[in-house]
Amino acid sequence: MSRIFSRIAGTGSYLPARVMTNAELAQRLDTSDQWIEERTGIRQRHIAEQSQASSELALAASRRAIEASGLQAQAIDLIIVATSTPDYVFPSTACLLQAKLGIANCPAFDVQAVCSGFVYGLATADNFIRAGAAKHALVVGAEVFSRILDWNDRGTCVLFGDGAGAVVLSACDRPGIHASVLRADGRHAGILSVPGNLCGGKIVGSPFLQMQGNQVFKLAVKVLDEVAHEVLAAAGMQVAEVDWLIPHQANVRIMEATAKKLGLPRDKLVVTVDRHGNTSAASVPLALDESVRAGKIRPGQRVMLQGVGGGFTWGATLVTM
Ligand code: UT7
Repeated sequence: MSRIFSRIAGTGSYLPARVMTNAELAQRLDTSDQWIEERTGIRQRHIAEQSQASSELALAASRRAIEASGLQAQAIDLIIVATSTPDYVFPSTACLLQAKLGIANCPAFDVQAVCSGFVYGLATADNFIRAGAAKHALVVGAEVFSRILDWNDRGTCVLFGDGAGAVVLSACDRPGIHASVLRADGRHAGILSVPGNLCGGKIVGSPFLQMQGNQVFKLAVKVLDEVAHEVLAAAGMQVAEVDWLIPHQANVRIMEATAKKLGLPRDKLVVTVDRHGNTSAASVPLALDESVRAGKIRPGQRVMLQGVGGGFTWGATLVTM
């Protein structure tokens, strides 16, 4: 019996029109363009309109991914949305997206793994397809982190942006996705969190993102290196067989440290954080789509995707385009 694999059949992304530069932030915060760029690599980020919820961003990115796949929306038989900024407590953003796409009946659910969410969603969809439970999965990362930032906290608000990225993952007789490794360690939950919830009509705790930047930085560099080696081993591949590295786009210094530790040349590193900021679960599919559409990442090339973030969660996927 022939084995089933999954491959990326189409990519898409969407960035809100409004661009916020470092200079704009420096006008009302005790920060500077120079500090933000030197410490993070970020020059600007996109900010959604008040009327644009995650499902709207997801819809625009999904339409582009479905169009690129050459499929009709009706062919999608699984929808996974990775988000930490859902439209509502429930229903899931995936269900709202499903209705906006004009399709029904296929399973649709959200994945909550913060900045690792897209890699978690992709690995989940790959397993559905390998098991024969889906043929064409839509996997989306969509975020409006601008809504959960304390715009007076210079240590966090300069880092994030809004956006969405999507892929269509289709069944195929060859990989596609070679291997995925997902990890989490809830003991580190406190270093990156939005420690609040709704209770009796009130917010209990804080509705704002809180981060111990230094600790997140150190842990991210450590686990991204570990998981890169784990996913290469799982796929039976060498670093030299990797054409592109797309790590979660949080800080260019974390990404450069990861590439250096791996022994991967700087020019194999995909960087979009300079223009997008950290878009959490959307960052990896946004960077992937931008590189595919620019003709930089080409069919047949091998890409390592990496997520890392709150939870603490991390993971990696190795894929041939
Ligand atoms: O998406 C999930 C993953 N998230 C991440 O990967 C983020 C990981 N962390 C980081 O990227 C970095 O830790 C930051 C960019 C957040 C901070 O950079 P850092 O080099 O770790 O700086 P720091 O937190 O040690 O702060 C250094 C100084 C502090 O001042 P003092 O205490 O030394 O006087 C901060 O108050 O920089 C100050 N600072 C700022 N100054 C100007 C913090 N934020 C700002 C700012 N502008 N926006």
